[in-house]
Amino acid sequence: MPKVRRVFLCRSCRSAQSRWVGKCPDCGTWDALEEAPFDPASEDDTHKGLAAAIAGDVPDATSPRAALLADLRGEADTLRRLPTGIHELDRVLGGSAGNVGLVPGSAVLIGGEPGIGKSTLMLHAACAWAAGGAGVLYVSSEESAKQIALRAQRLQAGDAARPSTAAFPLHVLADTNLARIIEQARRIGPKVLILDSIQMIYKPDVPAGPGSVTQLRRCAAELVYLAKASGVAVVLVGHVTKDGQLAGPRLLEHLVDTVLTFDGDRHHAHRIVRAVKNRFGTTQELGLFEMTSSGLRPLPEGAGPAATDTARPGSALAPIISGTRCLMVEVQALTATGFLGAAKRKASGLDPNRLAMIIAVLEQHAGLRLADRDIFASSVGGVRMVEPAGDLALLLAIAGAHYKRSLPPRTACAGEVGLGGEVRPVPAIEQRVREAARLGYARLLLPPGKYAPVPGVAFEIVRTVDHALQHLS
Ligand code: TYD
Ligand code: MG
Repeated sequence: MPKVRRVFLCRSCRSAQSRWVGKCPDCGTWDALEEAPFDPASEDDTHKGLAAAIAGDVPDATSPRAALLADLRGEADTLRRLPTGIHELDRVLGGSAGNVGLVPGSAVLIGGEPGIGKSTLMLHAACAWAAGGAGVLYVSSEESAKQIALRAQRLQAGDAARPSTAAFPLHVLADTNLARIIEQARRIGPKVLILDSIQMIYKPDVPAGPGSVTQLRRCAAELVYLAKASGVAVVLVGHVTKDGQLAGPRLLEHLVDTVLTFDGDRHHAHRIVRAVKNRFGTTQELGLFEMTSSGLRPLPEGAGPAATDTARPGSALAPIISGTRCLMVEVQALTATGFLGAAKRKASGLDPNRLAMIIAVLEQHAGLRLADRDIFASSVGGVRMVEPAGDLALLLAIAGAHYKRSLPPRTACAGEVGLGGEVRPVPAIEQRVREAARLGYARLLLPPGKYAPVPGVAFEIVRTVDHALQHLS
């Protein structure tokens, strides 16, 4: 007689275990395993089914046929994206000139910390899509329909250029039951379906609580299927928590076409939307917003810190490229007395490895003694600076803080710092120079190279770290 196999399924993540344990080894949920009947026949069937299909037993009138790429070319040309008219968002969603925005039938996931402004951004986008004539169903699982209306009204009040919501094909629904939501979507037939947030949505026939991994996966898979089958664009909003909680949007990244993150420092007004995955565009782009009392306001190009006449030790400015945009970023550094061998190095908005490297270069090539100094460095305004072109600014900020000297007013710098203490060229110099000129900077420290002159901006070539430090006074 064959040995009877037992299997225990986790109620939260549906993983199968061969014995009962108090805590699911896969998702860490306590007391979630329950015994389920093990049916070896069902497994065998699926294998048989596949083999039969390959052998040609399956009636092939129902199965989809592969299409020739050449035949599909026309279809790709006629695909019209759904623009919001909010350039900062459209650009991140992707597309080419004149045809940017959300792809019909695609699934987008937007993740961010609670309270960062995801619902606000989605409501702005919903109003914009609706104003453009696309039907929108905004489903909120956290707010009542009245609260959404109130918020929409407030956002509209701050934006006098927009037409009133009265004529919009924008439907709002407060529900968490997926079956009812899909039924509503079927009735209304919107072009865009927004779910805020996916964590609270549940399918009653799935034996797991709302927010659990199983519910999240099943609901998201169903919604993605809805998008592909019906051509409605589905936008899912998901929270991420600081500790990277399991049931967060990370779990859904592979399911959807586009993953956007919405972040920024909650204590600063700036918010950044960027794509971490995009099947229909680049992930290089980023959109900038400012949170105001009347909602999010897109930050136009050239909205960085303008040049001022005050010189501050420990501060340097660098034009940084993100996607197609150039942003002026201020880097600040502070050095303080620390303990030899236990000096603190803290980076905020900067790459900590880059900070360690710049400190080593300063010690080796400029003779600074930093071994017993605590060093704090940050990029101001919540913009993360990852580009090596910001090295020179970071270096000058640290050296300036150490010597209590500053760069002359109206000075910005761009350049990568090499391990040999040399300043290396960086890409897209013209764009950086243009941005600096627009913001009123009169002087730019640049790596060696040939640069076309720009009226009002003087170029200073710096070849080495030593050379750069001579500009501090
Ligand atoms: P919200 O969009 O609700 O965040 P999320 O959906 O990501 O949890 O908004 C978060 C914060 O934004 C809220 O705490 C207050 C602020 N806010 C404003 O400053 N102005 C506004 O007009 C709105 C709507 C929100
Ligand atoms: Mg919200």
